[in-house]
Amino acid sequence: MVFSSGMAAVMAVFGTALLANGRGSVLVMPSDGYYTARMLASGYLSHSGVEVRVAPTAGDAQLGKLDGASLLWLETPSNPSLDVCDLARLIEAAHEKGALVAVDNTTATFLSQRPLELGADFSVSSDSKTLTGHSDLTLGHVATREQSWRDALRGFRTQQGSVPGPFEVWLAHRSLATLCLRFDRQCANAMKVAQFLAKRPEVKQVRYPGLSGDPSYHVAVRQMKGFGPVVSFVLGNKETADRFLESCRLVLSSTSFGGVHTTAERRARWGGDAIPEGFVRLSAGCEDVDDILEDIAQALDRAVE
Ligand SMILES: Cc1ncc(COP(=O)(O)O)c(C=O)c1O
Repeated sequence: MVFSSGMAAVMAVFGTALLANGRGSVLVMPSDGYYTARMLASGYLSHSGVEVRVAPTAGDAQLGKLDGASLLWLETPSNPSLDVCDLARLIEAAHEKGALVAVDNTTATFLSQRPLELGADFSVSSDSKTLTGHSDLTLGHVATREQSWRDALRGFRTQQGSVPGPFEVWLAHRSLATLCLRFDRQCANAMKVAQFLAKRPEVKQVRYPGLSGDPSYHVAVRQMKGFGPVVSFVLGNKETADRFLESCRLVLSSTSFGGVHTTAERRARWGGDAIPEGFVRLSAGCEDVDDILEDIAQALDRAVE
């Protein structure tokens, strides 16, 4: 079921799986997932009588919060810190406790990670990102195997008015034809960027699930077919990170991710995430990787000079 944005898709799952049951529903979600989904939960949902429990993605920490849960919400790799949780393990545990499970699959996409095949009830995605990949539209979707959930989502979409625009859907349909080409190239470029950054002394805490030393690596190789376009890292402080971004010529400053052009932003400028001021989230595009690395190298040199 396609929606007008990723957040509209998120809200449709919250609405049908939690709010439709009236007060007393319990939502368990990551403390480090996408900020706006957390705000929606701690604001509107909790004011509507939903109990919201949070735990970090790393170490499958939601396992300890499942008693009495109605919906387990997972996001892996988490945005922006790129921790990975073990979907099969969490889904099984949640189902044993009688909870539904939804997975935000935005960062991985369904090419890399298949939550429904691992037993999830809903797979949710912001298709404004990698899936459509041209940074020119907002869209989202929810996939489910159950006809009754599909019907409920459709009903919620009609009542909420979150139908996608026809032009956006047309653009998305055209863009999907190149998804697998874009995704393979972006994953390959992201891996090289992560390996390059890991060797630079001024760069700390490089996170990419495909790096063999990354805390997410062992679960990620089992669960994902590609590690996605997003890499994160930390520069000394706010000023250094800002100088890095201003010095980039090819890497564009942008909040969104997953597009054909390499983009980056200093994530802490928005607040709400437990990350250092110098934390940078970079999304590798489809350019020649040598051009990307050359640009990052010259921008790092300028940032620390
Ligand atoms: C993981 C994740 N889920 C959902 C969303 C919301 O998507 P949209 O911007 O299409 O509403 C985002 C947006 O950044 C995201 O990163």
